Parts: sequence; C-alpha cells; structure tokens
Amino acid sequence: MKQFDYLVLGSGLAGLSFALKVAPYGRVAIVTKKDRAESNTNYAQGGVASVTSKEDSFELHVRDTLEAGAGLCKEAAVRTIVEDGPARIAELIELGMQFTEREIPLSHGARELDLGREGGHSKRRILHAKDITGREIERALLAAVADQPNITIFENHLAINLITSQKLGYSGDNQCLGVYVLDKQSGHVETFAAPVTLLATGGSGKVYLYTTNPDIATGDGIAMAWRAGAAVANMEFVQFHPTCLYHPKAKSFLISEAVRGEGGVLKSIEGVEFMEKVHPLKSLAPRDIVARAIDSEMKKSGADYVLLDITHKPARFLIDRFPNIYKTCLSYGIDITKEPIPVVPAAHYQCGGVLTNVDGETDIAGLYAVGEVSCTGLHGANRLASNSLLEALVCSHRAAQRAVANKPKPAECKIPPWHAGNASNADEMVVVSHNWDEIRRIMWDYVGIVRTNKRLQRAQKRIANLQAEIQEYYWDFIVTSDLLELRNIATVAELIIACALRRPESRGLNYNLDYPNANPEWAQRDTVLRKGP
Ligand code: FAD
Ligand code: SIN
Repeated sequence: MKQFDYLVLGSGLAGLSFALKVAPYGRVAIVTKKDRAESNTNYAQGGVASVTSKEDSFELHVRDTLEAGAGLCKEAAVRTIVEDGPARIAELIELGMQFTEREIPLSHGARELDLGREGGHSKRRILHAKDITGREIERALLAAVADQPNITIFENHLAINLITSQKLGYSGDNQCLGVYVLDKQSGHVETFAAPVTLLATGGSGKVYLYTTNPDIATGDGIAMAWRAGAAVANMEFVQFHPTCLYHPKAKSFLISEAVRGEGGVLKSIEGVEFMEKVHPLKSLAPRDIVARAIDSEMKKSGADYVLLDITHKPARFLIDRFPNIYKTCLSYGIDITKEPIPVVPAAHYQCGGVLTNVDGETDIAGLYAVGEVSCTGLHGANRLASNSLLEALVCSHRAAQRAVANKPKPAECKIPPWHAGNASNADEMVVVSHNWDEIRRIMWDYVGIVRTNKRLQRAQKRIANLQAEIQEYYWDFIVTSDLLELRNIATVAELIIACALRRPESRGLNYNLDYPNANPEWAQRDTVLRKGP
C-alpha cells in the first residue's frame, strides 16, 4: 500500500495547482491516467476570464455569468470565484505563466496583458497565451511541480474506485480513505491511501460521439464519486461548443470562440449570415443559443456543417493571434485567411458534477472535488466562456487551504487490497469497443442539443441494457483501462439522462421540445442525485 498525506487524481489545472499548494504541508501523490500534460486543460484555447482592466468590474463579470447561467447560478459562489480571480492570476504569472501582452497605445512601449473577447462577455476580459493558453498553463505548472520534492507523479495510473469507510462496512460518517489504482503498464491494481483525496479528473465529453475533448474525458471522477455515495448535480447541462472543425480527418479540433470574438461570422453553406435574426449579439450570443441555431440551420439545409468566416481580417493579424488554429487548419488544406472554416457543434463542457461548495468540499469527509468534475454553482444552466479555468484556479486554492487547515485524523479502518475474484483475461475486447460506440451514438442522437421526453426515455432503456452487460463483463474479466472507462461513460450517460428527465423545462443547455419554456418554479433548483445504498 502506498501512503501519502494528499492524494490528487488528475494533472490538469485543478490537480496541479492544488498539489503545489499542499506540497509544503505533506507528501503528495498525483495519479494521472496518461502522460502528465494530457488533460482538457492542455487543449484550452480561448483563455481565462478575469477582471484585470479598468474598463471592467467584478459587478459586470458577475452579471454576465449570471445571465449566461439562466437563473441557476449560485450568486454567492459566482461572486467569490470572480473576486478571487485576480489574486490567483497574479500567482500564476509569478509561477512562470506567460500570458500574451500588447503594447499600450501612446505609452512609449509600455505593455499590458492582452484581453480577448468571447460570447456572453460584455467586456474584453479573457487572458490568453495566443490560442494555446492551456498548453502554456500546463507547461508552467508542471515545471513548478518538478521543483517540488514532496510531489510524486504516477503517470499511466488510472484511478478505479474510491475507498470509503462505509464501503468497507464501518459505521459513522462516510470518509474517503484513498483509491484503488490500475497501473496500466504492469496491469496490477495498487492501493493508494491518504486522509485527503482530491478528485480533479475533469469532464466527460467522450460520452458523446462528437466532442472537442481529448480521450481522457470519460467522466471517471463523477462515476467514482457516484459509486462512493457522493451527491451529483445538474448533469443535464452539457455544453455543446458551436464551432468544432468539420473535416473527416480532424479529431476533436476546436475553433476557439475567440475567433468570433475577433469578428468571425457564422454563415450557412450558401454564405448567408444566420445569427442576425436569432440574437442581438449575433455570432457572439451565448453558446447554447449559437449551438441550437447552428443545429437548426444544419437541419434546415441538410448540410453537415456551417461556415465560420474571418477572411475580412488581415492575414498577418490572424496568423499572429491564432497561430495554432491557422497551422492546424492549413494542415487540413483550409487557409483561414482566404476561406471560411467548416464547423459543427460538439460536446464540450460538463456544467454539472460532484456537488461541492467553493472550497471543493463534497459530502464525503476527506474527499474534495475541483475543476470540471465539480458543480460549485458557478455555471448554472450554461457556462460563460472561459470561466472554467478561472473556477479551477480559484477553487483549487481554496480547497488546498481548507484541506491543510482541516486535515482529518488518519482513519482507524483497515484497507484490504484490491480483490480481483475469479476474473480471467478477456478474449472479446470487441464487446467493449462495440458498447463504447453504441453509448456515444445513443447520447448524440437522443440526448443532444435538442431533446424530447420520448428520446430521453428511449436512451434510458438502452443505456440500462448496456450497463447490465458491462457489469457482467466487469465482474468476469480482469480490469483494463478500456473496460473501466466504458463503465464510467455508461454511468455518466445514465446520470445525464436521469437529470434531464427530472427537469420539466427548457433552461440554458437543457432544451426539451416537450417543455419549450423555462418554468419559474425550477429557477434556482439544482437536479441533485444520490445513489441509494
Ligand atoms: P482536466 O484538465 O481535464 O484534467 C483532468 C485530469 O484527470 C487529466 O490529467 C486526466 O488524465 C486525469 N484523469 C481523468 N480520469 C482519471 C482517472 N480515472 N485516473 C487518473 N487520472 C485521471 N475553459 C476555459 O475556461 N477557457 C478555455 O479557453 C477553454 N478552452 C477549451 C478548449 C478545449 C478544446 C477543451 C476540451 C476545453 C476547454 N475549456 C476551456 C474547458 C477547460 O479546459 C476545462 O474545463 C479545464 O481545463 C478542466 O480542468 P481540470 O483540471 O478540471 O480537468
Ligand atoms: C474557446 O476557446 O472557444 C473555448 C473557451 C471555453 O470553452 O471556455
């Protein structure tokens, strides 16, 4: 058994910044299922929303967040996260993060942070590193982690299940004692024990057939917390990003909303602008509205995509501001300075998650959750662009402070080693890949941008059948990462559908044709689920 003071699951922004903050107080293990940089964070493009300019104010950022959240944000959480932002950004810069700067006009060469604009923001307030903000965040944090002798990173280690006192049969309050982890190289399952465990495992975009997320985003943290008995909330609010590159060879490549922030315009394949008649902010309307408008435009025209046109901007500006998007599109034969970009909506962000406060506390003692895996109340029914990196940054700091101040006494419970039973090696991995594809297609077709009760019920039945099959497989065969991730996406699919069926209204990202309007009785009401014993 490996014993630590702090156990961190995940090496994106939430996990790495928490680890750095608790490292002076004890030994830290970071368990991460692929290479250390592989995370949603690493692919973030647009940037981090935070108030840093004199033209802006906390009040405006709060107002924009609440407006995007469509009556479901927790205002106190929004205020805390917005107001803590500038101090955390300053620390990140101190640590070595290089945000893009610009020359202040008429100032003899003085420089300030460049601010991008994205949908739903009334001001320019997005700090960015060109269009590779996430990669720069990971670089800076991983360099800082490498200097910390108290932190050990376990790459290619996949957390399977949380170990809790109740699961082990102890009475009293449920307490998290650690986690069982699959070492992907050796195939062995190891026990990691610690009085404090942080879930920083990110989101679940891979539950859908089309997503902007990398392969790690299989909702493992949500599924683990759910199995351990933690409350999970608002899973119906899945954000679809309006503009993922449409190209047969491009897997999950995002065209940042910042492109629309700099003047990019959405057009039909005939070249006609269609957002004008939908929303006063046109192509920069909140994401739920833009994604639905694109979905409707594609259904109307029968086309597989729409166009995003920024060719009216000078080529030099585009190449400098969006070097990664320019280069990647060019590698697929699309020159964004000369031709419009074919785009489609794709699953992007999970607004719900493990229910926490802004200090990352869950309802299991010793278990914290921060970042995309959590549901703090910041995003409500629809996340404002670039608020998620801000949330991960602020809440990881707060959770670290809380965990250091309230470190639980090591539990008296005896933790048994992982029990593989009579499991044997699987000889039919095709079952796993078939079920994997089926879940993702069901979710795309029946639980997508536009929902109906009938489609949700159909999806619920099919997912339940698949889950029964997966459970059987799980007990019969030795666990592999593919099987574990399959089990997790099935659980997350079940939770999304269950939440969507419980909300009898359309609000933010949950759009249901059977209830096309918001129901005032459901404003400020979270959809909270808890697994029975
Ligand atoms: P992640 O960064 O996803 O990290 C999760 C970590 O957990 C990974 O290291 C993963 O390997 C690990 N992990 C997962 N499961 C397990 C397991 N079972 N065992 C061990 N390790 C595990 N947000 C913004 O605010 N601004 C943006 O500009 C922006 N752009 C985006 C662009 C793209 C293409 C994408 C996909 C997302 C974007 N987002 C953006 C969203 C944002 O990147 C994420 O919400 C945020 O990075 C989440 O950080 P995190 O630390 O919670 O999780
Ligand atoms: C983007 O760059 O469009 C992504 C921003 C976000 O998801 O917050």
